[in-house]
Amino acid sequence: MTQTTTPKKKLFLRSWGCQMNVYDSHRMADVLAPLGYAPVDAPEAADMVILNTCHIREKATEKLFSELGRLRVMKEARRAGGQDMLLAVAGCVAQAEGAEITARAPYVDLVLGPQSYHKLPELVARISRAAGSVVDTEFPTEEKFDHLPEASAPQGVTAFLTIQEGCDKFCAFCVVPYTRGAEYSRAPEAVLAEARRLVAQGAREITLLGQNVNAYHGADAAGAEWGLARLLEALAAIPGLLRLRYTTSHPRDMDEALIAAHRDIPAVMPFLHLPIQSGSDRVLAAMNRGHTADDYLRLVDRLREARPDLALSTDIIAGHPGETEADHQATLRLIERVGFAQAFSFKYSPRPGTPADGAAGHVDEATKDRRLQEIQSLLRAQQAAFNASKAGQMVDVLFTGPGRHPGQLSGRTPWLQPVHAIAGLELVGTVQPLRIRAGHPNSLAGELVSPPPNQEQHAA
Ligand code: 5AD
Ligand code: SF4
Repeated sequence: MTQTTTPKKKLFLRSWGCQMNVYDSHRMADVLAPLGYAPVDAPEAADMVILNTCHIREKATEKLFSELGRLRVMKEARRAGGQDMLLAVAGCVAQAEGAEITARAPYVDLVLGPQSYHKLPELVARISRAAGSVVDTEFPTEEKFDHLPEASAPQGVTAFLTIQEGCDKFCAFCVVPYTRGAEYSRAPEAVLAEARRLVAQGAREITLLGQNVNAYHGADAAGAEWGLARLLEALAAIPGLLRLRYTTSHPRDMDEALIAAHRDIPAVMPFLHLPIQSGSDRVLAAMNRGHTADDYLRLVDRLREARPDLALSTDIIAGHPGETEADHQATLRLIERVGFAQAFSFKYSPRPGTPADGAAGHVDEATKDRRLQEIQSLLRAQQAAFNASKAGQMVDVLFTGPGRHPGQLSGRTPWLQPVHAIAGLELVGTVQPLRIRAGHPNSLAGELVSPPPNQEQHAA
């Protein structure tokens, strides 16, 4: 079947949560394209709507049901007009609460977990035949990536590439090991092939994705296991690929080889997202993180020794069960010691079925709110100081696309700071040295110091 002979059907995809979900949504669109589905911007006239859910925080389930309530009205309106709207729920809420979804929202046609996306076309075909709805939230592991077609929609100058999924760490607060299943790494050859294709489509920076990305251990065709350091080295050799990043890492999986990669591979950017979650050893133990605050600080020292200009980002949870005021103070002290360039911080939110949910010592909301605010004001100040420290410096900026104002381009620094500068569109996709005029709390303003030299020197 080719797309020219297939009547176009409208697909509306809504994605919540992490970059992994955004990436998965692209892949679902890809996998449905041969069936004639093309993405649209609004659900009203869609032949199919996929809600790609996130379970990690927030009131995910309630949000989902209220969205479904609205879609039900649209579906019924279309039915009255002799058409249908297939409703699908994907992602981690689907994985965790598939049965509840079909019970509470029987008009949902399809509930599918993150391991089943490659089966979407088959499932969609089955629905057209079956009367009832279809649920597929099994964990068939290995197969998912092999059956997905190659990503077709170009992502632009900066692209994401999933190399690893799932997690075996079982942090006490986290649903990922239950919703995404066991850790699984893609074969290095498949990753390299996808990276080459992304570069051919214009990517100059690739961020490798995985829930526990630095646990990567893909086996090649000869049966040899590659760690993330070896994969980064091979990726860095792809002509045209200027910058590499990876996220999210667990401190326990930062091995020697990976630390050395930050020293030895110039394309590996000097920026690392390394969640600490808490600065208290008591809480880290309750979280089942498997390391102490001091282990983390020593790791940071080793990383900075390897790459002195390395900047760090982190995740922090405020008010994990059992967290005392002294534990909270220890978190603030750890943040002060490290000095983060950027960070994400969250109020602890119970996830049903996780050990922390059943643990003693839940912290009241008001205390969680106050602790979160204290953490965030410290982190905001650190981010502002880091950005301000770049003012007056020359910084290499990868231009990613047009800026908000005419004549402007947007870009990013090696440390993932957004930058804007007056520059011509022909510089998109190139790295240019910019003088930073100002470092604002959330972005930088830069300028080209002289007309850019022969572009070929910078475009790879
Ligand atoms: N409550 C609050 N934050 C959480 N995270 C994961 N689970 C929870 C939870 N139950 C945060 C962690 C993780 C990030 C992606 O989300 O900090 O690193
Ligand atoms: Fe969740 Fe990350 Fe812990 Fe894995 S390492 S269980 S994804 S918080």
